Amino acid sequence: MFNFALVLAIFASVSMIAFADDGVFVAPWFYHGLDGPKFTEKIVDNNVTARSYEAALWSSTSVESQSLKDATNIGFNRLFNYIQGENDQKVLIDMTTPVMTKVVPGAGPNCNSTFTISFYVPYIYQTAKGPPLPAADSQIVIETIKPFYVAVAAYDGFSYDAEAIAETAVLSNQVSNSKDVSVPLTSDYWFSVSYDPPFRVSNRHNEVWVPIVDTV
Ligand SMILES: *[C@@H]1O[C@H](CO)[C@@H](O)[C@H](O)[C@H]1NC(C)=O
Ligand SMILES: *[C@@H]1O[C@H](CO)[C@@H](O)[C@H](O)[C@H]1NC(C)=O
Repeated sequence: MFNFALVLAIFASVSMIAFADDGVFVAPWFYHGLDGPKFTEKIVDNNVTARSYEAALWSSTSVESQSLKDATNIGFNRLFNYIQGENDQKVLIDMTTPVMTKVVPGAGPNCNSTFTISFYVPYIYQTAKGPPLPAADSQIVIETIKPFYVAVAAYDGFSYDAEAIAETAVLSNQVSNSKDVSVPLTSDYWFSVSYDPPFRVSNRHNEVWVPIVDTV
């Protein structure tokens, strides 16, 4: 017997993907026309937004700190110098979105945490040859980040340490209570993801991500 409700439910669960019917990635509004990573998205049990990101090249740098804000600023400046011409071809590399910061918490109070700040490599350099190389002393690596899966919480306004931590705590709890997703056994990290320049005052969009096992 044809179950119309079931078909509707299945259709609803795949209708959120960020690819158009022909498989071409349609960037979300908060990319503001910049290049950025390609993903698909769906809403699963307990209203969790689950995303799947394609493998891609990123430029990344690591910073030890007790502050997400300080670490992200330091990392941003290193990466910004690289795209502003401190590279082996002395060329300008277009800014992309987002600024992705991976947070690996330190072992205890007063310990540094490890923050890895990354810029997505522009589409024209997402090739086997890759982008211009950073200077040897830049502390920047160009790396392929393999496909990954995250649960996402999005929020507006300005996001610093307190906001990102609070959003991640709620998101982790939401993931724990979802039948459709689970957190990898070994994961103790999360991501703070910024899409806006500091002087954009309205329509700001921030995200935090927690890694999930790809069960969706
Ligand atoms: C589901 O999540 C979205 C986006 O975070 C939110 O706007 C909406 O209110 C949530 N719905 C429920 C039923 O919790
Ligand atoms: C934390 O990192 C900073 C900057 O790298 C360093 O100066 C400081 O000694 C570190 N602190 C601890 C407790 O490891």
